[in-house]
Amino acid sequence: MARLIDGRAAAAALRERVARGSAAWAAERGRPPHLEVVLVGEQPASLAYVASKARRAREVGQTAAVRRLPATIGTEPLVALIAELNQRTEVDGILVQLPLPVQVDTPAVLAAIDPAKDVDGFHPINAGRLAQARDPLTEELLIPCTPLGCLMLLRDTLGESGLTGRRAVVLGRSTIVGRPLAALLLAADCTVTVVHSRSHDPAGECRRAEILVAAVGRPGLVGRDWVAPGAVVLDVGINRVALPDGTSRLVGDVAFDEVAETAAAISPVPGGVGPMTVACLLHNTLLAARRRAAGGS
Ligand SMILES: NC(=O)c1ccc[n+]([C@@H]2O[C@H](COP(=O)([O-])OP(=O)(O)OC[C@H]3O[C@@H](n4cnc5c(N)ncnc54)[C@H](OP(=O)(O)O)[C@@H]3O)[C@@H](O)[C@H]2O)c1
Repeated sequence: MARLIDGRAAAAALRERVARGSAAWAAERGRPPHLEVVLVGEQPASLAYVASKARRAREVGQTAAVRRLPATIGTEPLVALIAELNQRTEVDGILVQLPLPVQVDTPAVLAAIDPAKDVDGFHPINAGRLAQARDPLTEELLIPCTPLGCLMLLRDTLGESGLTGRRAVVLGRSTIVGRPLAALLLAADCTVTVVHSRSHDPAGECRRAEILVAAVGRPGLVGRDWVAPGAVVLDVGINRVALPDGTSRLVGDVAFDEVAETAAAISPVPGGVGPMTVACLLHNTLLAARRRAAGGS
């Protein structure tokens, strides 16, 4: 049976490090690192994510404010709010909860965030820095939280140098997960393949992986025949599926029970990558505060 990759424990350890760093930063600067979260509309999933991000930030000794805006808002007032947050010196991190309503120009909103405060790492400048980086962690880049969490879990599982030369397959090519993760794994000296909906043989490509990360949003797509025996598997997917009794539950993109029989290690859903995503946001908020205090852009 595969070893379980415990994202909850890894996230708790990271939060502890961030709490120590935030306390030290606050002692030095006279205030804690501060995060602003912008929430548009009332989507239940977004409400829950935002509440947990703000709560976790406070738990590690950071301050967090949530700006709630109506679902009918347009691009211009949203960009104006971000411009105001960019100007305020006591704001270290700005996060706009996605997805935004259809009438909003999402790329324009993300590009309006000061790259130095871009704790989600989605600004084109930060995406470009990551694409060009040789060592993104040492260079202290603002890296998208979910891929950063994946990299940390893989390093915990395989060791600092354990990624070198490995065949890694990233299933999914979104700008939020797949692409930045591919850049991180490449910088970690993996041999990287990115698989997407137009790939000719997704299962065959995945079967060649020593490290497989699934981020597609398709419940249980990755079955036993997609995974080589002995592979390390991370499941990024979060899918709510209806049960016959009328309730629902969260499942990943990987058919956990069958894949766990042959993989070397596997992350569960829930309790795998998800907790790391929020912990990495707190890590990025502290990093942004430090970098800004040191005059970084
Ligand atoms: N754990 C976390 O904290 C966290 C964070 C973010 C997202 N997620 C979850 O991760 C999943 C992916 O999120 P996302 O934002 O990256 O999704 P997304 O933007 O919808 O992208 C999905 C990707 O999967 C590819 N794909 C879809 N069906 C496929 C198939 N049958 N075979 C091969 N590739 C396929 C798509 O290919 P094309 O590009 O060709 O369309 C696309 O690149 C979702 O379940 C989401 O809820 C979790």
